[in-house]
Amino acid sequence: MSEAHDHWQRVFTTKADAEVSWYQPRPDVSLDLITAAAPDRAAAIIDIGGGTSTLTDHLLAAGYRDLTVLDISEAALTRGRQRLGAAADKVRWIATDIAEWTPDRRWDVWHDRAAFHFLTDTARQDAYIRVMTEATAPSAVVIIATFALDGPERCSGLPVQRYSPATLAARLGPDFILVEGRGEDHVTPAGAVQRFSYAMLRRRTQDRLPSRRSLRSGGPSARPGGALTGMTGPHKRTHGPNPSVSGPPHPAGIRRKKSPLAGRPS
Ligand SMILES: C[S@@+](CC[C@H](N)C(=O)[O-])C[C@H]1O[C@@H](n2cnc3c(N)ncnc32)[C@H](O)[C@@H]1O
Repeated sequence: MSEAHDHWQRVFTTKADAEVSWYQPRPDVSLDLITAAAPDRAAAIIDIGGGTSTLTDHLLAAGYRDLTVLDISEAALTRGRQRLGAAADKVRWIATDIAEWTPDRRWDVWHDRAAFHFLTDTARQDAYIRVMTEATAPSAVVIIATFALDGPERCSGLPVQRYSPATLAARLGPDFILVEGRGEDHVTPAGAVQRFSYAMLRRRTQDRLPSRRSLRSGGPSARPGGALTGMTGPHKRTHGPNPSVSGPPHPAGIRRKKSPLAGRPS
């Protein structure tokens, strides 16, 4: 097993949820972006590096029914399953290193809070982007949160690559078009403030790269047209912001939202 795997196994077998800096009682920004971008409860959603986040609990409670959590740490997934109890059977759990994964279907929403930023070498970043391109349906939504350019340089003792929504979009390349950027001042359980960047992007409607093989699209995107059912506006467009999603008119604009833990209005 890799050093990364051993690191995360150690974290999730020795620390409680509220002992890790990234803990959020409720992932408000993620929920806000996901429900705005994919109101159809049949949308297929995958949480990359989901850890022990309660995102899945909240999505299940909101009525989403095609949910997958992927993480390098089996211990993290076991804790998530135990927390959910019987509802865990409604979720697909995948234990793997994202940079080495071969997806077997496509999702409509790809969500990642604070996993991609641990990939600091170009080859592993390229592998992640290849996997994400293969695992997302044409016109799928990608939501990736990383530490912001002025955020911490390390997370969980490991170095991270920091991004703004615009630099993240540039790194992901032309298959993903920035729709909205947001900032968040996340307050850790210890009271420190960490600046996060959230980028919401739309995958191009056309496959530019030949796929390793043809993958079944998940959820509503499997229907004719290949776009998310329930999205209003011209979601089949390949350029420009999606009017079904709130945000600034300029795609690179950032709205900074303070964590509710900070006790300040956003
Ligand atoms: C900082 S935690 C964030 C957890 C969760 N997304 C949240 O917001 O609470 C990073 C997560 O990414 C996972 N992770 C790190 N590197 C990974 C990789 N290469 N492949 C899959 N998961 C990874 C870790 O196990 C951990 O659960």
